[in-house]
Amino acid sequence: MTTRLRLVPDRASGRSATPPGDPLDEEPGPDATRCLALYAKLAAGVTVVTARGPDGPLGMTVSAVTSLSARPPLLLACLRDGSRTLAAVRAGRTFAVHLLRAEQQDLAGRFASPAATAAERFAGTDTRQVLGVPVLAGSLAWSVCLTEDVRRYGDHHLVVGRVAAVHVGAGRPLLWHDRRFGTLTDPVPDAAG
Ligand SMILES: Cc1cc2nc3c(=O)[nH]c(=O)nc-3n(C[C@H](O)[C@H](O)[C@H](O)COP(=O)(O)O)c2cc1C
Repeated sequence: MTTRLRLVPDRASGRSATPPGDPLDEEPGPDATRCLALYAKLAAGVTVVTARGPDGPLGMTVSAVTSLSARPPLLLACLRDGSRTLAAVRAGRTFAVHLLRAEQQDLAGRFASPAATAAERFAGTDTRQVLGVPVLAGSLAWSVCLTEDVRRYGDHHLVVGRVAAVHVGAGRPLLWHDRRFGTLTDPVPDAAG
């Protein structure tokens, strides 16, 4: 079956190509701009990663999330150096990953906006605590993970989480491809898996 991706304009991306004079451009090999062009071709689901910070809930939009292992249940996320959410994931040893539905593009934009405070990102969301971390209601699926490993690679940190709680709902996923949001246009089964 062919799966179609519908792309919509990127309204609030926290991502861009490297700014002029970025030190990444001085690395040997293909320059960072070319690598970022390559990465942009990776189609990915869009998630929001949340954690409990010292002053309350923190969270950010993350497309670099991948399943890693079923036994034991592990997933991984790549969080940029200097992220407030990353600091909370490291300190708190627990985090949540929410796979967004196609209708949640605004939420993804808000949780990516560098200008938005944590309170602004969470404003109006239906949030509850699961294993001490903020969990957002209404996503396609979510998981609460215990932080198993955090390792720096270049300008990001690889975060491995052990899945401790899971909720799987129904709907279409929000996708990210070519620096734009997209959705699947083929029928998606209604039943939760
Ligand atoms: C669709 C989309 C996907 C993103 N994926 C990632 C990602 O995988 N890793 C990352 O570190 N930042 C990613 N970002 C950027 C962060 O969401 C953004 O830098 C955010 O402001 C970080 O928040 P924080 O510093 O409060 O933790 C993404 C942004 C968008 C719009």
